[in-house]
Amino acid sequence: MLVREELASTNDEARRLAENGAADGLVVLADRQTSGRGRRGASWYAAAGESLAFSIIVRPTEPQSLWPRLALAAGLAVAEAVESDIPGVGIKWPNDIWIGGRKVAGILVEAGGDFAIVGIGINVNTREFPPEVADIATSLHLAAGRMLESADVLTKILEHFIWRRSQIGAGFDEVLDGVRLRCVLTGHAVTLMTASGPRYGTMEGLGSGGELLLRTADGLERIIQADEVRLDDFNARA
Ligand code: BTN
Repeated sequence: MLVREELASTNDEARRLAENGAADGLVVLADRQTSGRGRRGASWYAAAGESLAFSIIVRPTEPQSLWPRLALAAGLAVAEAVESDIPGVGIKWPNDIWIGGRKVAGILVEAGGDFAIVGIGINVNTREFPPEVADIATSLHLAAGRMLESADVLTKILEHFIWRRSQIGAGFDEVLDGVRLRCVLTGHAVTLMTASGPRYGTMEGLGSGGELLLRTADGLERIIQADEVRLDDFNARA
């Protein structure tokens, strides 16, 4: 594991190291990120000393077409790792981790030529959030009502991830079952911003490749990727 006090983004540093031959499984951790990145080019806010920001270099043996599954595998690993301390941990497809309708962790998977970077940001002991995310964010500390050891959380996530990442080829059904069990969107009205415009409907579940099955007025659509996923059925967040 490579630990730095400050990095622009652990994903960027992990990519640089991977391009220079760093091994599969290397974890890059920063106490503080100055340009932490989220999905869709958003920035990722993480309170220094109260959150975990790390990236794992993965050199999958599976074909590249299956690498997007790493995002689901990582989301499941994070959920499994924290639910021993906190009940009711959910996954908002594809891989936001939710507790009580609020986001506690986010995952950013980026592919390079022969590697993928799995970046994980998790609010561990954060007590206060900036106004722009105060209504939608939470931390393990706020959910559990006690402080958690970041090192323990990290160890558990890595243990679960080692197992789940080995299932993106054969064994993916087990990842899917785990995600289905925790999926907070299933059965609810959602809006998905896709490359070909917004889609409205009810989430019916996950298809065999991890795609979202959306029941719309026109029938069943299989959504592979969405820029934004909104839960319209507000009561479901409670
Ligand atoms: C999201 O939900 O939008 C994804 C957030 C991912 C944040 C993590 S923190 C560690 C790693 N380094 C980054 O710059 N981003 C990811």
